[in-house]
Amino acid sequence: VAYRRIVLRRRPEGMPVPEDFEVVEDAVPTPDDGQVVVRHSHLGLAPAARIRMSADVEGYLPPLALGETVYGAAVGVVVDSRHPDLAVGDDVVSINGGWQTHDLTDGRNLRPVDLSVAPAPTWLGALGVSGLTAYVGLTDIARLEAGQQVVVSAAAGAVGSMVVQFARALDCRVVGVAGGPDKCRHVTQTVGADAAVDYRGGDLAGQLARACPEGVDVYFDNVGGAVRDAVWPLMNQYGRVVVCGQIAEYNRRTQEGSGPDWYPLLTKSLTVRGFLASRFQHRYDDFLRDASAWLRADRVVPTEFVVDGFERTPDAFIAMLAGRTLGKTVVAI
Ligand SMILES: NC(=O)c1ccc[n+]([C@@H]2O[C@H](COP(=O)([O-])OP(=O)(O)OC[C@H]3O[C@@H](n4cnc5c(N)ncnc54)[C@H](OP(=O)(O)O)[C@@H]3O)[C@@H](O)[C@H]2O)c1
Repeated sequence: VAYRRIVLRRRPEGMPVPEDFEVVEDAVPTPDDGQVVVRHSHLGLAPAARIRMSADVEGYLPPLALGETVYGAAVGVVVDSRHPDLAVGDDVVSINGGWQTHDLTDGRNLRPVDLSVAPAPTWLGALGVSGLTAYVGLTDIARLEAGQQVVVSAAAGAVGSMVVQFARALDCRVVGVAGGPDKCRHVTQTVGADAAVDYRGGDLAGQLARACPEGVDVYFDNVGGAVRDAVWPLMNQYGRVVVCGQIAEYNRRTQEGSGPDWYPLLTKSLTVRGFLASRFQHRYDDFLRDASAWLRADRVVPTEFVVDGFERTPDAFIAMLAGRTLGKTVVAI
């Protein structure tokens, strides 16, 4: 069996193109003492990989080197083990398995998954990093309470579609912001938001004001930029802005925009707080308990978008960044 990995061939200028990536083939690695080899079945694509493709954009992880395997989560099965706690046949999810068919690892990046609870793609989406991010953002960061008014951007995406559903499960009213009428229909009809706003549809401020007659207690910001600036004047007293992502900035050559006026921070006693889900691993068990109960009760539906074929990973990644996918974008190898 060949070992294939997708490496960064050159740094993208703005939106990545397929030529920025290259498939490299090798022999399947063998483990040393304390290591395992995981054969991946599914890759989870995330905008964070785009941040790491730029040399000069400040991120929370170092930039990828040219020739390095692209960063990303994966589900797979242990196929070779010299690790005391991991056996051949164990199903696992890895936060940084990478865009590759196999991962040689000391196991610290692995968690067990139960594929009888949910299929592999769901362990990358609703029950994976995307779900954990939505959960931590709403609970630990926003301190969401029942009956509150929530707005979330990139609402049809991996994190956003979980924010909509978790906030509804926590008895809040939710407005999703997404690009285009089809996505907005998806956000209300399939994901279950109370209303949707099309940020490409013009008069964003007016659309938002009509969708949020009682203002906004929590804005879950996945995009930054113009959408954030349009939600800002609608924030209620003691409102919270959860800074989860700034995807509007990731493909830019330079950081732009000074952001919204700070005065309402004072007059409305607002809280603006960023977070990295990776620093909330201590909440994983609580998240898994609540999210799997919501899934079992059909209060939350998984929203993974599965693309077949390892070679299609770069195309699927570009489609995800450009907003042409729905929910969590997953590649089945
Ligand atoms: N803090 C953390 O620990 C953490 C963890 C995971 C993810 N994140 C962040 O959360 C955000 C969502 O990630 P995800 O994995 O769920 O990706 P995603 O939402 O599935 O995909 C990205 C979506 O962003 C939207 N988008 C792209 N460019 C935009 C722009 N210029 N303005 C507005 N929307 C734009 C597109 O939707 P439309 O078609 O609607 O434009 C696209 O579908 C990202 O910013 C990501 O970096 C943060």
